[in-house]
Amino acid sequence: MNTQFQLNNKNILVTGASSGIGKQVAISCSEMGARLFITGRDKNRLNETFQSLKGKGHFQAICDLVNENERSAFIESLPAMDGLVHCVGIVMPMPVKFVEDKHIQHVMETNFNSAVLLVSKLLRTKKLNKNSSLVFISSIAAHFPYIGGALYNSSKAAIEAYSRNIAQEMAGTGLRSNCIVPAMVDTPMYAETLKGIKLTHEEYSAKYPLGIGKPEDIANAAIFLLSEASRWITGTNLSIDGGYALTVI
Ligand SMILES: NC(=O)c1ccc[n+]([C@@H]2O[C@H](COP(=O)([O-])OP(=O)(O)OC[C@H]3O[C@@H](n4cnc5c(N)ncnc54)[C@H](OP(=O)(O)O)[C@@H]3O)[C@@H](O)[C@H]2O)c1
Repeated sequence: MNTQFQLNNKNILVTGASSGIGKQVAISCSEMGARLFITGRDKNRLNETFQSLKGKGHFQAICDLVNENERSAFIESLPAMDGLVHCVGIVMPMPVKFVEDKHIQHVMETNFNSAVLLVSKLLRTKKLNKNSSLVFISSIAAHFPYIGGALYNSSKAAIEAYSRNIAQEMAGTGLRSNCIVPAMVDTPMYAETLKGIKLTHEEYSAKYPLGIGKPEDIANAAIFLLSEASRWITGTNLSIDGGYALTVI
């Protein structure tokens, strides 16, 4: 039997696990045998995810990853991880002419700084086992902009550059780092984005030959990137877009 896609005996940290993609990533990883360490800010929704995990020995913690004290205490509480899927993210649709410093700070500290500071602390406190795999969730919007997406799209371009840098800098230790680059996936963030760009689901999904994605589509890719099956893959971006890019080329 091919067991390379299994996550048995792996400790996997999933951030943003209280909603959408992170929730499904956590559930799917538990179905593949991993021991999950999940975090989010909303207690009830995080607990819902926790109750849906398969198997035993999982761990949940409420943490605002933008808050330095909370982030530090959370990381200190962890054993060493074999993988991270960082799903924290916010959108803030806004025309470029209205962007102010406070908007940049809010989007960047959530979508970018949280990842950078999480990883540096995990490394300094030796909470990443040899041959760990880091997975960041970028967005196809970093490559195919939409009106109003300047801040969000820039934060995602930054995470892709950051991931490639980790991959290069840490390759000697066996640590791998990759991004998943989804197009639109049906989560609460999708509903929020539709409101921001003033399109209906029907109008928006017309651009997708294979329809809008499901959180499971992203979770399956995360499993692959966390597993031994992807042992020779690092510093790459895996686009998952239901054919969206084919329609805009
Ligand atoms: N959905 C899409 O179409 C799509 C497409 C491309 C990329 N992505 C990316 O995929 C990731 C997940 O998106 P999603 O659609 O699943 O969004 P979502 O349903 O809105 O979930 C976002 C998650 O981020 C958490 N979060 C936000 N700010 C946080 C903070 N300061 N500290 C800790 N957690 C925080 C939220 O926690 P609480 O709810 O508990 O506050 C929630 O669990 C994001 O990075 C997003 O940019 C999404």
